[in-house]
Amino acid sequence: MGTLPVRADRFVVRPSGPLSGTVHAGGAKNSALKLMAASLLAEGRHVLRNVPRITDVEIMADVLRATGATVQRLAPGDRGGDDPGDLVIEVPATLVPEAPYELVEKMRASVVVLGPFLARCGRARVSMPGGDDFGHRPIDMHLSGLGSMGVTFEVAHGYVEGASAGGGPLVGAHIVLEYPSHTVTDNLLMAAALAKGTTVIENAAREPEVQDLAAMLVSMGATVRGAGTSRVEVEGVEMLQPARHRVLPDRVVAATFLAAAGLAGGDVVVADARVEHMTMLVAKLRAMGVVVEQEPGGLRASASGRLRSVDVSTLPYPGVATDFKPFLVTMLALADGVGIVTENLFSGRFRYVDELRRMGADIRTEGHHAVVRGVPRLSGAPVRATDLRAGAALVLAGLVAEGETVVAEARHVDRGYDDLAGKLVSLGADVRRC
Ligand code: EPU
Repeated sequence: MGTLPVRADRFVVRPSGPLSGTVHAGGAKNSALKLMAASLLAEGRHVLRNVPRITDVEIMADVLRATGATVQRLAPGDRGGDDPGDLVIEVPATLVPEAPYELVEKMRASVVVLGPFLARCGRARVSMPGGDDFGHRPIDMHLSGLGSMGVTFEVAHGYVEGASAGGGPLVGAHIVLEYPSHTVTDNLLMAAALAKGTTVIENAAREPEVQDLAAMLVSMGATVRGAGTSRVEVEGVEMLQPARHRVLPDRVVAATFLAAAGLAGGDVVVADARVEHMTMLVAKLRAMGVVVEQEPGGLRASASGRLRSVDVSTLPYPGVATDFKPFLVTMLALADGVGIVTENLFSGRFRYVDELRRMGADIRTEGHHAVVRGVPRLSGAPVRATDLRAGAALVLAGLVAEGETVVAEARHVDRGYDDLAGKLVSLGADVRRC
């Protein structure tokens, strides 16, 4: 592909007053990446629609290419009956089941090829993901879940190498997850689709993106029951067919625009936001004083005046997602009162708070808690995007801070947002990349 525009690595944001207009969230990153991995389960031509134009998709395309697959974004005029923008993945009969260091190091979500590699080839060699901006993130549950399905793992020279008994199919198993991990559930679902017998995953992740993956697997001929609940059952089949599948909308991108409306005021419609995917978030936004209404196919958020503080605790779905937290912390930084925020998923996910403090926020962190005392105003400052969601939250802070905010390392934001600045500008915001 390599078709993403080259953009400057900084956002320059100035306050612009209330926002108004309609935006689309676009396809969900955390679904698209897994659906791309799932395509490896069947030889042939897969078509994925609504795949966001983001860096992480480019990296996953390179991961697929390293296996021998071809990945192409259809341009206007390309033949084949599919639409411009569709992602076409051609998976060969024989795969190279390897994910090299250079790619996994850029994106740890690459680890979701482990399940498809083992299911399809009976072996896998995947570079061991390192730590990241959220702190230490182990892959022990991936390995123990796949281990229950008959895979033996060895870690050597920075790579994790897995093989099934005699290179044959994986074996269905009863797996109880210690924690409802999103990508572990994805990996096990994909591995189970081609395993011999039935796999039951207890304490499975219930995220909408897991349901999207299950829907694609079913369209490929898999038998999956219970996706979206904490008990998922998969009956393995011998072979799957290529898929045509539309990626569900990105609830975190949608939340970004709802939060922007809450912060800057105005009236914003996110045309493809699904309320059923963000029930707890919507409840929190309403408790803070944002008016959130359902529109046909989307959500409308409007706000005026100062927001009220609330307490927030991140939890696995359907709780308040950890990915929403930087937006909520930014809103609390300006709200009336004190909010206590508890992070229950990732130890290092408060690093951006230092950047908000540089803009005048009054936030104290202690372990996995933050006490956010709302201040009447923030002041623009040079800050740094410490990760994808934090970067987006700092851009939102800039919308309401006095003077100019310069958010450096904008490339983190491009990993998961298809032109955040352009979409905010379409709502009347003053955001530039320069
Ligand atoms: N964990 C383990 N061992 C494992 C796997 C996970 O201890 O083998 C722990 C993690 O360290 C963490 C907790 O389990 O403390 C939750 O991690 P989970 O596995 O659920 O997260 P993930 O699957 O790695 C996905 C999203 C994240 C999102 C989280 C939580 C993808 C590619 N990533 O990560 O999204 O924050 O679920 O919902 O789906 C993002 O989009 O920016 C992002 C980080």
